[in-house]
Amino acid sequence: MKPVKVGICGLGTVGGGTFNVLKRNAEEIARRAGRGIEVAQIAARRPNPKCETGSTPITADIFDVANNPEIDIVIELIGGYTLARELVLQAIENGKHVVTANKALIAVHGNEIFAKAREKGVIVAFEAAVAGGIPVIKAIREGLAANRINWLAGIINGTGNFILTEMREKGRAFADVLKEAQALGYAEADPTFDVEGIDAAHKLTILASIAFGIPLQFDKAYTEGITQLTTADVNYAEALGYRIKHLGVARRTEQGIELRVHPTLIPADRLIANVNGVMNAVMVNGDAAGSTLFYGAGAGMEPTASSVVADLVDVVRAMTADPENRVPHLAFQPDSLSDHPILPIDACESAYYLRIQAKDHPGVLAQVATILSERGINIESIMQMEVEEHDGLVPMILVTHRVLESRIIEAITALEALQDVVGNVVRIRVEQLN
Ligand code: HSE
Repeated sequence: MKPVKVGICGLGTVGGGTFNVLKRNAEEIARRAGRGIEVAQIAARRPNPKCETGSTPITADIFDVANNPEIDIVIELIGGYTLARELVLQAIENGKHVVTANKALIAVHGNEIFAKAREKGVIVAFEAAVAGGIPVIKAIREGLAANRINWLAGIINGTGNFILTEMREKGRAFADVLKEAQALGYAEADPTFDVEGIDAAHKLTILASIAFGIPLQFDKAYTEGITQLTTADVNYAEALGYRIKHLGVARRTEQGIELRVHPTLIPADRLIANVNGVMNAVMVNGDAAGSTLFYGAGAGMEPTASSVVADLVDVVRAMTADPENRVPHLAFQPDSLSDHPILPIDACESAYYLRIQAKDHPGVLAQVATILSERGINIESIMQMEVEEHDGLVPMILVTHRVLESRIIEAITALEALQDVVGNVVRIRVEQLN
């Protein structure tokens, strides 16, 4: 059988890795796919020194690939929203299948792209868009297809996890570690995407869609970054038996779906709490399988290429299948997507870690406890530290039971109004993940 011809758009880290893996493992890949996969064209503005492209034709214009009648599958690895959207829509218009690693594109324009792909009877595959080398899309979409998924929680940004790990293990300051993450090439072109949770929210939006069978709704995801975290909170969390992770959480409730990215305290003995450095992990809880955990490299040249090539193999196998009999893009049949709403953050429920800086006066603790109990907020643990020498204030650390976000905000406002409380109350969500 003639090989399938693919075009790679973008020869950066992931594009270069994809080319190399396809070349190195060509024989094994062909044995799996049932046909050879040949890179027939590359679109790149500059060569990648880590790639021996040999005689493969190279163009500077990505649309040459989308319009090339020889090409069966376009691999979009240029990143970003606008140009990538145009490229993918053009490829689909020309009847080509698409493989992409672009989480921003799928999270923001996925509904439009999948609708167009259905119209044209082509596949758009995006395993590499979430958690790099971890095949978590396939696991949720196919491996867990029997389950009603209750929730999922993931460390899905390697840069953020690297920063938090260095802060906890080495006591390093946030800004210092971010600089190193950028130098090591982990961070997005705009590192605010990593540290403000936008990158993780892109990935969480995709995971939530395929877990719950809802349309992609990135605009409704709540994001809170890690820029305000201090080593003091990292250490207090540790003393209470927790680790702080930048977590993406998607949970199904009767009222709607929680879709939120924020720093989170997790019990230190959970496996996911011990995922360190740039590694990613996604925990999925289904009613039949219980909790499953998927762990691996969330970024990088060949781990991400591994997912791109796995998608290529899937596409090659499914190319000749009737479009109605392929795995649906968002796991559920398009006419069966649910309109269960995404909840606003103040309607979400979580436990909370609170750090209050108080004057060392009698009765402060009682006032704090009263404010919380008046609002029905149950305290799980409380820790009062020594008076700080530099300001004479006493840090009080509390962990609450689960409570509505709106209720805790109300309590924090009352706490901050107390005469003996100085400055803002630090609030970090807590998830038990059990
Ligand atoms: N900037 C991303 C991360 C790259 O740090 O995880 C992979 O999506």
